[in-house]
Amino acid sequence: MTAPEWSKGLEGVVATDTKISLVDGQNGRLIYRGYDAKELSLAYTFEEVCFLLWNGHLPDQNELAELSQQFRKGRELPEHTRKILKELPQDMSMMGVIRTCLSSLENTFFSWPPTIEQAVAATSTVPVIIASRMAYLAGKEPLKSDDSLDHVANYLYLIHEKQPSETQIKALTVYCILTMEHGMNASTFASRVIASTESDLISSVAGAIGAMKGPLHGGAPSEVTHMLNDIGSKERAEAWITAKLENKEKLMGFGHRVYKTTDPRSEALKEMTKQLAGENSWLDLAYHVEEIALRLLDYYKPGRRLYTNVEFYAAAILKAVELPSELFTPTFTASRMVGWTANIIEQSQDNRIFRPQSIYTGSVPENKEKPASRL
Ligand SMILES: CC(C)(COP(=O)(O)OP(=O)(O)OC[C@H]1O[C@@H](n2cnc3c(N)ncnc32)[C@H](O)[C@@H]1OP(=O)(O)O)[C@@H](O)C(=O)NCCC(=O)NCCS
Repeated sequence: MTAPEWSKGLEGVVATDTKISLVDGQNGRLIYRGYDAKELSLAYTFEEVCFLLWNGHLPDQNELAELSQQFRKGRELPEHTRKILKELPQDMSMMGVIRTCLSSLENTFFSWPPTIEQAVAATSTVPVIIASRMAYLAGKEPLKSDDSLDHVANYLYLIHEKQPSETQIKALTVYCILTMEHGMNASTFASRVIASTESDLISSVAGAIGAMKGPLHGGAPSEVTHMLNDIGSKERAEAWITAKLENKEKLMGFGHRVYKTTDPRSEALKEMTKQLAGENSWLDLAYHVEEIALRLLDYYKPGRRLYTNVEFYAAAILKAVELPSELFTPTFTASRMVGWTANIIEQSQDNRIFRPQSIYTGSVPENKEKPASRL
């Protein structure tokens, strides 16, 4: 028998077809359902883009009003989930908390096949889980959601316990829209594999969260914050970056496996940070570090096409809207719920269970000594 061809990590392997998003690495474009994600992020609300990803078209006013209603309905956690939230060990990671609390909702109505209604319910719950956990950790009762606020604004309100500014809402909205969905990445693939067994939407999302929790997938923005904190001031940037590159270390927030030109998400986020610059001097350091890093990367790694990636300005935005770095990956998770659930629904609509093969590299009985009889 000839061995099938294979590719470690399934690199370059097409696992499915999709109408949800296109990551165009050569041209630096991210497309959601036919629209440029960067343009969507600057001109549309979070809930409008959710509707687009789930339904395939932008909503009219009635459709949007109905979706907003559904989002608000999902903000109430059931009693048993609140109990779990209070009782989970203090040192459990926020990603573990989200995964556990979402799993506790399985009984409500998450049966096969997955629906948009289920997707909205699961998505709208995540910020409430995060904010409630933060409140319990601080020994307080969580605030009740403010139904006059949309999904993103309500998240900021629950975390900061005060009304967010318009610029903060816009900045986090741009971030959330740009990170909602990104092709066949590890967590999205995990969610589709689970959905392909006709398991429920919550189990598929729980698996995706498990994949996102790994540092190779969801952890880079907090690394960028550590880097900028370590650099500390503009004067130290050149020497700090030079030392890293001389030492053959990687600079966090630069380079990308797919984008071999500027990551379109980092461009949009950078544009957004400019509106926040007056409110946050920390951004001045980020601009300066980016400029020096690009110059030095070009010098130390000529021809490698290393540009700023989404994580660099994601860190800047999340810090500028005053989210602590331990909430960076959970916030990314809250927005990626939309892409996962859209993929789970799409998988269910033309399903075939994933069943790839592996190449066995162990021995076979003919080459092995017969085991001695145990009798
Ligand atoms: C994202 C990443 C894993 C993509 O890697 P990749 O496409 O497989 O590229 P490679 O790791 O093969 O790197 C190609 C070359 O560029 C260099 N390079 C890539 N990213 C670099 C970075 N951020 N800083 C310094 N050098 C870098 C590599 O050292 C390698 O150099 P070499 O040819 O001399 O060996 C990589 O760029 C990286 O680790 N970036 C930093 C972490 C980060 O920001 N992650 C978030 C991604 S959204």
